[in-house]
Amino acid sequence: MRTFTILIANGPNLGHIGQRQPEIYGSRSLADLPELVRDILGPEKAGRITLEHFQANGQGQLIDRLEAAMRQGVDGIVLNAGAYTHTSLALADCLAWIGIPCVEVHLSNILARNDEPLRHTSLIGRSCIGVIAGFGLHSYALGVCALWRRFMDAAQQTPKE
Ligand code: DQA
Repeated sequence: MRTFTILIANGPNLGHIGQRQPEIYGSRSLADLPELVRDILGPEKAGRITLEHFQANGQGQLIDRLEAAMRQGVDGIVLNAGAYTHTSLALADCLAWIGIPCVEVHLSNILARNDEPLRHTSLIGRSCIGVIAGFGLHSYALGVCALWRRFMDAAQQTPKE
């Protein structure tokens, strides 16, 4: 049975999830992600997904990795672009052409951060299939789940030979 590769890509200041300002971003680390995905999708479906991880503080490094994902044939991307979410047309441009379905995720609910209204805006969201924010590490697991749904819908639409 076909398996799927999903790239979990994290932008600046997301190299220490679980340790950075846990009161805002939660205290679970990315090491817990496979378990959360298994809880939601069940072991059989989760077993058909390979998670690859990448984190970079620089915008260019992120773009290089997303382009490499295209060459590699990655099936989907879960992207937390951190602060680049709010500023990077370059990342939005990259996502718009590489042709890999991408879910934008955030640990915090960026729309509820009224002390910093700049965080309400996403430049990359227009190049993503959807946005999930506010559920801590579960945002990533839900992003993986949304991509799984997308893969299954696409498989149903592909005519069998
Ligand atoms: C974040 C929200 C961004 O505004 C912030 O710059 C981050 C993390 C989140 O996951 O909640 O670095 O993307």
